[in-house]
Amino acid sequence: MLRKTVSALAIAIAVSASAVAADKAFSPYVDGHGGISLPKDFRTGWTHLGSWVIDQEGAPGQGFHDVYARPSDAAAYRKTGHWPDGATLVKEIRAVEHGVKTTGTGVWAGDNKVWFVMVKDSKGRFADNASWGNGWGWALFDAKAPGKNASTDFHKDCETCHVPAKATDWVFVEGYPTLRH
Ligand code: HEC
Repeated sequence: MLRKTVSALAIAIAVSASAVAADKAFSPYVDGHGGISLPKDFRTGWTHLGSWVIDQEGAPGQGFHDVYARPSDAAAYRKTGHWPDGATLVKEIRAVEHGVKTTGTGVWAGDNKVWFVMVKDSKGRFADNASWGNGWGWALFDAKAPGKNASTDFHKDCETCHVPAKATDWVFVEGYPTLRH
């Protein structure tokens, strides 16, 4: 009897462990519960899609924004006009520096502040996780604690602001010349 219970328990544990195992074929940045981590190599190995500068004191997005996607995701978008499943977008926000250069009065990127990450999911894999919805996983990482997603609910933290980009799958593609042919 005890043996049976123990082996049933072992099976239950094995099943639940496999249910939460990350699907690496889907994304190396997403665990089995839909937890999103910050990709490390985007600045050196990914495709730079474009930049935004919000240079207005006190604006919610004040900073120098650079947006990156993996080369394969950017190529797929250029080809099809859609993001493939697992496509990952990283927006890095840095401080805006100002100064006179020999070229003119310049603005450039200073220290890291935060990173925003979106991971494409057309299948609704993590319906129970409030960081997922509208076809994407949504995450925010602070430079002071880059190991942890600081956002727990994309409806609250992300969705409203992205409504103007709803028709282009929630992505502000007008700012990304690299996605155009
Ligand atoms: C204050 C409004 C606002 C909030 C809040 C916001 N976003 Fe955005 N996001 C934008 C705008 C506008 C852009 C494009 C222009 C820019 O960067 O200023 C953008 C761009 C992005 C990009 C680059 C790709 C794209 O969609 O163009 C990512 C990735 C991103 N946001 C993720 C997130 C995530 C994840 C959250 C929540 C944790 C979030 N954003 C919250 C307004 C917002």
